[in-house]
Amino acid sequence: MSARSRQLHLVRRPHGLPVLRDFDIVEVPLAAPDAGEVLVENLWVSVDPYHREVFDSVTLGTALEGRALGRVLSSRNPEIAVDDLVIHRDGLRTHTVTAQARVIRPPAGVPPEAYLGILGGTGLSAWVGLTTIGRLEAGESVLITAAAGGVGTAAGHIAKALGAAPIIGVTSTQAKADRLLAGPFDEVIAYRDTTLLGQLAGRDIPLALEGVGGSHLEAVIGGMAEGGRIAWVGGISGYNAHTPPGAPGNLFDLVHREIRLHGFLVRNHMDERDGYEAFMTPRVADGIVPVEQTVVDGLDAAPSALIGVLTGANFGKHLVRVAE
Ligand SMILES: NC(=O)c1ccc[n+]([C@@H]2O[C@H](COP(=O)([O-])OP(=O)(O)OC[C@H]3O[C@@H](n4cnc5c(N)ncnc54)[C@H](OP(=O)(O)O)[C@@H]3O)[C@@H](O)[C@H]2O)c1
Repeated sequence: MSARSRQLHLVRRPHGLPVLRDFDIVEVPLAAPDAGEVLVENLWVSVDPYHREVFDSVTLGTALEGRALGRVLSSRNPEIAVDDLVIHRDGLRTHTVTAQARVIRPPAGVPPEAYLGILGGTGLSAWVGLTTIGRLEAGESVLITAAAGGVGTAAGHIAKALGAAPIIGVTSTQAKADRLLAGPFDEVIAYRDTTLLGQLAGRDIPLALEGVGGSHLEAVIGGMAEGGRIAWVGGISGYNAHTPPGAPGNLFDLVHREIRLHGFLVRNHMDERDGYEAFMTPRVADGIVPVEQTVVDGLDAAPSALIGVLTGANFGKHLVRVAE
């Protein structure tokens, strides 16, 4: 079976925050699957902050990649059947032919798209940051920046399940803060209404998962306890900048107070995926951990979603539903 695919292309290199006219949607024919390949109809595609870095290097006029969940329409892979649900990286398009698909079988109570969020690389990033990098211990306080995003909401639930207390979040608005307080967070700072540096100074927090960089990283350093650990997952506040942000003014506090700042990439920790899925899947299936996501419909909505994830339009994981 051959098919056509509508694909999102970057047609202009963005300067600063991307704008809608940087993108175009192009329809192309797909070759029939070769041996080992499957033809997939994408159902859900993920939009992520890392796409901003992709925009700086991707060849203009080619299909953008992204994590996706789809249904197999035809298969020349003996281990994958028609109608199987698969996860792959050929997102931001309606259909793809790929040899790199992983079959998922969501148990009862688990929506398939959770494998792009709380049960996917997003949740795994929070897990790796809090456990392998941050070495969270029950009873410890945890600080989470970008707390209302995909990684942050997952981190709140993981921290709760591992016995952290209190769990402190940072997000932009009081409306997002209120939603977080209805979940696992004990305290949430709405950074647009306050001076984050002043709010966190001297808090003696042992562990932070930091995903914003810039002034947030500086405030987090100021809030850490002596010997504290910062698991540094990202720097979204700088992704649209023309030049890299400067170092935090209090960077030398790392020396004075023996604070460990440890950056990491989830792709180097994929061996932890099975263990994390075993930990989190039953909690999602039982409804103990909700699947928190912001959904927009149709591939045509993907450009605004890609911009939205860089401007705080989402609560939880930001996803595009491409087909039912
Ligand atoms: N190291 C890795 O392997 C890895 C893997 C996944 C993600 N990450 C990083 O982790 C961070 C969170 O990723 P995510 O997938 O969970 O995205 P996300 O949090 O779902 O979306 C980004 C959030 O960041 C906040 N934000 C955007 N611009 C900001 C700014 N200028 N200052 C402060 N906050 C800003 C917004 O929330 P507010 O409205 O609250 O500001 C927005 O909702 C990102 O830096 C991402 O690059 C790294």
